[in-house]
Amino acid sequence: MPDILPDRHPAPEGVHTAFDAVYSWNYEPEIDALRTLYANALERQWIALKQLDWEREIDRESFSRTFSLGGVPVQETRFWRGLPAETRWEVARRSASFMLSNFLHGEQGALMVAAQLVAAVPHTDAKFYAATQTLDEARHVEVFAAYIRKLGCVQPIAPSLKALLDDVLATDDWKKKAVGMQVVTEGLALYSFRDMRNATEEPLLRELLTYVSRDEARHTGYGVKYLSAVVPTLSDAERAGIEDFAFEAARRLVDSRRGGTMRDSVFELWREAGVDPQVAFAELAKERATIAASMARTGGRRGPIRGFVIPTLKAIGLMSERVAARYDEMFRANFGEAFRPVRDDPTALPDDLEAWVERAS
Ligand SMILES: [Fe+2]
Ligand SMILES: [Fe+2]
Repeated sequence: MPDILPDRHPAPEGVHTAFDAVYSWNYEPEIDALRTLYANALERQWIALKQLDWEREIDRESFSRTFSLGGVPVQETRFWRGLPAETRWEVARRSASFMLSNFLHGEQGALMVAAQLVAAVPHTDAKFYAATQTLDEARHVEVFAAYIRKLGCVQPIAPSLKALLDDVLATDDWKKKAVGMQVVTEGLALYSFRDMRNATEEPLLRELLTYVSRDEARHTGYGVKYLSAVVPTLSDAERAGIEDFAFEAARRLVDSRRGGTMRDSVFELWREAGVDPQVAFAELAKERATIAASMARTGGRRGPIRGFVIPTLKAIGLMSERVAARYDEMFRANFGEAFRPVRDDPTALPDDLEAWVERAS
């Protein structure tokens, strides 16, 4: 068996889960949008070993030029260009392997949740679709593992992502599972993969992210179509419970009051590569104008939660005034009073998510 962590695989780890496996005795199409999505997913299957050229070496130069620091385009600054080429490569390699490792671990979580959904959802159409997603997620684990193997280092899962996946795996309510996976986690994945896909000029990475993101666009589509059909049938109390579950999932990713953020972990990697994060931070602060101009050129980056997850929750009717106030409190506490309310965020998602993946902004 290929080995991505030759000497230091952590031991397998269990999370206790309990939910009802549900038989559906109606085999006729019931939610047409899901049948269509299932048919679409069958058409769009791909084979990672055949479709991507794994013989290709990673193009180090374009790889080190195109990574970003949590959406901040550091590579366009004088500070970054002034670092020795070897240091730039080390920072890029470690930072990108952190991101990609978390993509990989997240894909494993998605694989297990998609398999749970096959059993947990009460509609045949939704079981069929979740079965195709299970296969998609296996392929995603396969391709990220293969790419990281070429980079030569895999990082452990970030604590916030692990906690999110544990919550989604453990809940016994299929609607919470669906919102936690198909809306919050898939939204995070789709936005982040697309962001990296459009930022990188490394050919193999760009190609694999294009394939993976197209699948993720369908997975998000499943969440939107399924939950949009189900949410209007729920009682107020049930809907509030699902809103709160989605909020807690998002909070795992955003709220630094709960401990180390992803960005803290990335700065630690800079230190390992020989760059003092505090010096880097101070130097980058001096170049704020360059960074702002670059971000304005690319349309700015709103981040996966504001840029995608919140609009999705709004679109499916899971953003009441009550829960919006909880988001506002969290964003203000983390990003300052000037942060505008969630009410002002867009409600509309791109019509064709697969096409959106390959649009530049
Ligand atoms: Fe995936
Ligand atoms: Fe997915």
